[in-house]
Amino acid sequence: MAGRVLALANQKGGVGKTTTAVNLAACLAEAGERTLVVDLDPQANATSGLGERAATASAEDLLAGAPLEEVLRPTAFKNLDLVPARAELAGALAEPAPLRALAAARERYSFVFLDCPPSLGPLTVSALAAADRVLVPVQCEYYALEGLTQLLASIERIRSRLNPRLSLAGILLTMAVARTRLSTEVAREVRRAFGDLVFDAVVPRSVRLAEAPSHGVPITIYDRHSPGADAYYRVASELVDRLRPKALAA
Ligand SMILES: Nc1ncnc2c1ncn2[C@@H]1O[C@H](COP(=O)(O)OP(=O)(O)OP(=O)(O)O)[C@@H](O)[C@H]1O
Ligand SMILES: [Mg+2]
Repeated sequence: MAGRVLALANQKGGVGKTTTAVNLAACLAEAGERTLVVDLDPQANATSGLGERAATASAEDLLAGAPLEEVLRPTAFKNLDLVPARAELAGALAEPAPLRALAAARERYSFVFLDCPPSLGPLTVSALAAADRVLVPVQCEYYALEGLTQLLASIERIRSRLNPRLSLAGILLTMAVARTRLSTEVAREVRRAFGDLVFDAVVPRSVRLAEAPSHGVPITIYDRHSPGADAYYRVASELVDRLRPKALAA
């Protein structure tokens, strides 16, 4: 099976895109899957979260046509490679561009995660134009559903104009606070609106998940027995199930 390219997208900021990209990638890498994280966000949070520094050779060079080898680097974690974000301020990309280098990445990796910035601008559109699936993290917050309709409409537009292969990998509820009315209600609303598209596993609000990036390591290294790690292991296994080609009924 060729590698899967998954974009983490939501134009709303701070919903857990980067945390999900880094930690899902770490869970899959730990399970022996060759995994690549492409940091398409000038904030470079996925880059620093994996203990690396933003560099001059970056994901933006991929958009400018650079081959994968020129921008790729290994991380300290087995099976986990990174295309870092650029150190300088963003602004280079005025128009979406094709991520042709991902064709080579599909050959080399089982999973490629594209961490998008919080906008529906050229970087995110480029990611969606190149991805097979979009994974949408949604924070268990009052305004969670706001913007989701717009995001889904954008995904639909990109599917029809640029990338017929694109589909939703699912919606992931993040930063849930157990037994609070707000989290319970938001989760119920999102499930009512999107049904099976929503991952069963819910990522809890966990200070360990928030601390891990300041040590430059994923949660699998920082505290693998924490509830946050547990959640991401379950999301990874659900994701693998969802991507598995449906077996023919016996
Ligand atoms: N489940 C969680 N529990 C506690 N803190 C979390 C959790 N998920 C993410 N965070 C923290 O919340 C902040 C936002 O998360 P993250 O950076 O993953 O969101 P994002 O959607 O990538 O943000 P941006 O839109 O700015 O790229 C970060 O400080 C992160 O460490
Ligand atoms: Mg981010």
